[in-house]
Amino acid sequence: AMTTELGEQKQLKEVAGIPLQATTVDNWSQIQKFEAKPDDLLICTYPKSGTTWIQEIVDMIEHNGDVEKCQQVIIQHRHPFIEWARPPQPSGVEKASAMPSPRILRTHLPTQLLPPSFWENNCKFLYVARNAKDCMVSYYHFQRMNQILPDPGTWEEYFETFISGKVPWGPWFDHVKGWWKIRDRYEILFLFFEDMKRNLKHEIQKVVHFMGKNLDETVLDKIVQETSFEKMKENPLTNRSTVPKSILDQSISPFMRKGTVGDWKNHFTVSQNERFDQIYREKMEGTSIKFCMDL
Ligand code: A3P
Repeated sequence: AMTTELGEQKQLKEVAGIPLQATTVDNWSQIQKFEAKPDDLLICTYPKSGTTWIQEIVDMIEHNGDVEKCQQVIIQHRHPFIEWARPPQPSGVEKASAMPSPRILRTHLPTQLLPPSFWENNCKFLYVARNAKDCMVSYYHFQRMNQILPDPGTWEEYFETFISGKVPWGPWFDHVKGWWKIRDRYEILFLFFEDMKRNLKHEIQKVVHFMGKNLDETVLDKIVQETSFEKMKENPLTNRSTVPKSILDQSISPFMRKGTVGDWKNHFTVSQNERFDQIYREKMEGTSIKFCMDL
């Protein structure tokens, strides 16, 4: 029975052509009816784009760099995950509804699936984008170690699956294009993982400003230090080490895996790279978004 249960949990279902976890789809009407509030800040990412990283940064900014205040709960419990549903645990919607304002929430949903009240209330959106190739590599290793997501198969198989967008939360291409397109119409701060790697302090300053905060230099420097890959990899509150192995098997691949730009070069063959570049050009035609794929 145990195997069947886990097997069923791994299945994806679709909403408007976007594959999502079955438990999320089963809870879809509650998710769509979610009531956002005008002072909500929503952290938005495609999976594996630096969600945990930006969550830790936002949390430290909110608490003015006070490490003790940030380190009371594990990162997964700090910002309710809107589309999360895994009964009998409380859903993301239920957790968010129970949270006092001003709330900081998170989602991986593409724009077309976001609960409409976020637009109606003109919430703040903080989007972090990561280049497609590194995202694919990171997602591949994540699906290998995540026991409640579908098995990615071989790297060659996953390469095709990722391109076709048959992965949880759908195609990278449309996700990134969708959020980029509306960046001037709503209050959106659009950041890139690669810029964060290049100059973390500068990107943190943008977030501070966006959150309407004012922090002094020493606090900023402290946040930069505390949110380095090395620190977050060691920290049990950010490295997911408290999640049971039956859900995240870190002996297969650690959650804090490499945290670099350009690891795709260790995975893509020359011909995969050529094919990917061509598909990328087709799928990203007409958008002005530019990514950096190595530093
Ligand atoms: P890799 O698998 O390439 O190492 P998410 O939180 O959206 O699931 O993204 C996870 C990815 O972000 C992983 O990428 C992880 O290592 C990376 N990451 C997390 N914290 C980081 C940090 N402080 N600096 C750099 N990369 C970080």
